[in-house]
Amino acid sequence: MKIAVIGTGYVGLVTGTCFADSGNDVTCIDINEAKIEGLKRGEVPIYEPGLSELVIHNSEAGRLHFTTDTAAAVAPAEVVYLAVGTPQGDDGAADLSAMWAVVKAIAPSLREDAVVVTKSTVPVGTNARIFGMLKEFTGRECDVASNPEFLKEGAAIEDFMKPDRVVVGVRRPEVGDVLHQLYKPFLRTEKPFLVMSPESAEMTKYVANALLATKISFINEMANLCEKMGGDINDVRRGIGHDSRIGFAFLFPGVGYGGSCFPKDVRALESMTVDKELTPAMLRAVDEVNERQKHVVSQKLDAHFGGDLAGKKIAVWGLAFKPRTDDIREAPALVLIDWLLSKGAKVVAHDPEAMDNVRAELGDKIEFAEGRMDALKGADALCIMTEWKDYHSPDFAEMYQLMGDPAVFDGRNLYEPERMARRGYCYHSIGRPM
Ligand code: UGA
Repeated sequence: MKIAVIGTGYVGLVTGTCFADSGNDVTCIDINEAKIEGLKRGEVPIYEPGLSELVIHNSEAGRLHFTTDTAAAVAPAEVVYLAVGTPQGDDGAADLSAMWAVVKAIAPSLREDAVVVTKSTVPVGTNARIFGMLKEFTGRECDVASNPEFLKEGAAIEDFMKPDRVVVGVRRPEVGDVLHQLYKPFLRTEKPFLVMSPESAEMTKYVANALLATKISFINEMANLCEKMGGDINDVRRGIGHDSRIGFAFLFPGVGYGGSCFPKDVRALESMTVDKELTPAMLRAVDEVNERQKHVVSQKLDAHFGGDLAGKKIAVWGLAFKPRTDDIREAPALVLIDWLLSKGAKVVAHDPEAMDNVRAELGDKIEFAEGRMDALKGADALCIMTEWKDYHSPDFAEMYQLMGDPAVFDGRNLYEPERMARRGYCYHSIGRPM
């Protein structure tokens, strides 16, 4: 099939590349010329395992193209994917200005039989609005479908190639059939292809993310409760997870969820609820608990140092909002660093992938360490904010020597409290006894 994908952000680039890999002729479009020129040379602007190789392979095979010329790319396309950004606006609602601009731009060149598909996360009702706009611009009833994306950063290729399910929202069953053909190569393990209305598909995306965010805020609140009551959240998680109604997934306590999806989507859904004069009590609580959780390590540091962090050297391991990405959007580490700087502490940070992004934001306000151990020299404390593999089993004896009298504030529960105590560490983690 001939496919055009508009927007070469995270979702658009992965979608376009994977569809090219399954044998389609794909053109990815973006208004950012520098980005497109880079992609033509095989330079992928984000860190995502396996993506660069796949972009280069499919470009060389002549199936994947990049352009800034929307009209030329859309004109022959049987399927046009819309994957532009829908960032959070000032009022918490999704900002759809990029989406409206693209709908206007594609209208004159759309084939009569083209299927327009929204891949971006968009508020319920957006698909219907696009349908209305295209009718106004083209004078005909175009097929507009919704196909929400459930991939995770750091595992995007794997998630796209082997989805748990594919959800599409359509007005005509024939459109569902077109999209089913497109997805068949990825559904060979009999995973379901679920067809529903565009509104249900749009809602599915928000409900999935809101429920996952709810699990995280819930377990974080229970972890904080364990700390006060004396339980160990790891044992509690083992104790509840075997109940098949509960399960183990997405119940790891930590320093709060970040990234470009959960915070934005929970707030966007909340703002939709308010628009409909409902009270989004659950969503508000999920967001509020998460915002508080981002301060949990600072509170422990504050208590440990008796409120005086001026001049203290604090090492921070992990800046990205999670491992296997260089994405620092809404990253809990940044909230901690902000607080440390406001207290007059000296911060030395390490991250395997995200240091350049943080440097671009914070400049020389903090120091960056080449290797994880370099961050520890003379540090008064170490805070672990992202569970990168590199941090799971460091040389504890070397760490001890580098830090002198070491205090570790582990926001991801990487180590065993008892062992850390035996090694001589003052070790704090989340929801477990010291
Ligand atoms: C999330 C969803 O998992 C995807 O299904 C969805 O497609 C995507 O949002 C999106 O809407 O585009 P992502 O933001 O890449 O994916 O990252 P996750 O792996 O879900 O992690 C999100 C945050 O939750 C991270 O900060 C992570 O540290 C935190 N988390 C996750 C926990 O604190 N505990 C857990 O048990 C799991």
